[in-house]
Amino acid sequence: QKHIISIPELTRSELELIVETAGKLKAEPNPELLKNKVVACCFFEPSTRTRLSFETAIQRLGGTVIGFDNAGNTSLAKKGETLVDSVQVISSYVDAFVMRHPQEGAARLASEFSHGVPIVNGGDGANQHPTQTLLDLYSIFETQGRLDNLNIAFVGDLKYGRTVHSLTQALSKFNKINFFFISPEILAMPDYICEELDQAGINYSVHATMEEVIPELDVLYMTRVQKERLDESEYVHMKAAYILTASMLADARDNLKVLHPLPRIDEITVDVDKTKHAYYFQQAENGVYAREALLALVLNEQL
Ligand code: CP
Repeated sequence: QKHIISIPELTRSELELIVETAGKLKAEPNPELLKNKVVACCFFEPSTRTRLSFETAIQRLGGTVIGFDNAGNTSLAKKGETLVDSVQVISSYVDAFVMRHPQEGAARLASEFSHGVPIVNGGDGANQHPTQTLLDLYSIFETQGRLDNLNIAFVGDLKYGRTVHSLTQALSKFNKINFFFISPEILAMPDYICEELDQAGINYSVHATMEEVIPELDVLYMTRVQKERLDESEYVHMKAAYILTASMLADARDNLKVLHPLPRIDEITVDVDKTKHAYYFQQAENGVYAREALLALVLNEQL
């Protein structure tokens, strides 16, 4: 069985298969694909979209969900049980195990103790968010018609934004990708990502403003500054560093789509929502189809 822990472990053709399957399931729902399957969704860190879209995906495919979204009420928090023991117990009940955890590497650790039950990483600290990347890829393919030959800017908290780490690694598997990075200096893309891009010969450039790159872009990927990973004084200073307004999109290409993993705080003003470029709410909806595709492929051993 395949665990879905980090994007580098998925090949380009596996990513394309998931994107293609998501499109098919969006066009033609299939309530049989997870019939008689039980999937755990255990969130040790808060989530709205990831948890609810996974739960929706499982139910729409005919499966059953168990789990929790408030780890404070579990035996880990109340009785001091270890994560490893919890994983061994929960994985004995289910066919697949989706988990989010604040600790980087938690999903990988879980995969070593799940006795072959597939672990799906729903986000581990500031490290990886691979299933967000699957819905991001699907949303890019849906709006641009391709995953090669793209100009994409990442804006905001590129240091702690696990969605940008995963998506950068995924798009690096495709051809003719140009990345533009825009962030406060202390929230810049981590060195290990830049080193991977250098080694792979992928084009990237660092910019001070969004305005200087918007006319060249196919995708503008906004992120929020991660309050929970900064101290209060850093957060207050950084949170309004980059704010996208509708007027800034005046010179954008027709095909430009603004994506955001959400939740949005202040970084996209609501006037952007009414423009043809806004796609973040459709992107969130696509989380259901991408996660349906992933679970169907994993549990039917096509990945
Ligand atoms: N995009 C995302 O991961 O949102 P949640 O934290 O609500 O799951």
